[in-house]
Amino acid sequence: MSNVKTEVQGQVAILTISRPKALNALNSETLDDIKAAFEAIDQKEIRAVILTGDGDKSFVAGADIAEMHGLNKEQGTAFGKKGNDVFRYIETFPIPVIAAVNGYALGGGNEICMSCDIRLASDNAVFGQPEAGLGITPGFGGTQRLARIVAPGIAKEIIYATKNIKADKAKEIGLVNEVYPQAELMPAALKLANKIAANAPIAVRECKKAINDGLQVDMDKAIVIEEEAFGRCFETADQKEGMGAFLEKRKDKHFINA
Ligand code: CAA
Repeated sequence: MSNVKTEVQGQVAILTISRPKALNALNSETLDDIKAAFEAIDQKEIRAVILTGDGDKSFVAGADIAEMHGLNKEQGTAFGKKGNDVFRYIETFPIPVIAAVNGYALGGGNEICMSCDIRLASDNAVFGQPEAGLGITPGFGGTQRLARIVAPGIAKEIIYATKNIKADKAKEIGLVNEVYPQAELMPAALKLANKIAANAPIAVRECKKAINDGLQVDMDKAIVIEEEAFGRCFETADQKEGMGAFLEKRKDKHFINA
């Protein structure tokens, strides 16, 4: 039995992390299940992914503290690498991933949503990195991604002081794009996912890769990444379709992902 449920609605895959007895905390098994669920996505058909947590209280309450408690240095390093590998797989997954954060996003929960492209939150969501209070650093990318998404000083305050922040504050600091009443979160995530899915999928993938890769290098290298991505799009049927529809004043577009 997997701790991740997959549902497909049209061209959108919804992955729900489901480990209710531990508020969807990430043990090794659940990390494996998340990787397997992403690997099982049909990349030809699916054009956007939504990642959420089961229930109405918690998105993901962190890495599993019971599993980590007895680890030694080597095992701790290996557990961190396991989470980092899965989250990097999500971050570099060719299809955009929207995190629908429906409650606690603490520790590994905040870290997994930061590996997604876009974060939408319910108004009861709480974000934080409680690790320093547990005697550890964030271990699934929190020291790196938080300081890249929000201002470094804000990231340091959240991490050093284990300062949890509510959804509105998360929006104010740019950690989430938008906040919704809980019942409206999934409809909003689906609406955004379908808007992404309606665009040319190869172009969207090239955008994701160009933004992510470009952020890691200086501007001279970054614009070359964009030029190459831009050029590759002209090899696609979808470029001819997208521009053809504009020139023919045609509203309906049929992107074939080729
Ligand atoms: N690991 C393991 N079990 C967890 C868990 C976690 N991260 N979070 C919650 N649970 C379990 C609880 O132990 C509890 O289990 P039992 O019913 O068997 O006692 C169950 O989920 C329900 O939790 P609570 O009773 O605590 O629920 P609450 O509503 O009172 O509190 C909460 C909710 C504030 C999220 C609280 O559960 C909490 O603080 N959880 C831990 C959050 C945390 O510290 N996360 C960071 C983990 S470290 C990390 O993630 C490292 C990393 O970067 C890789």
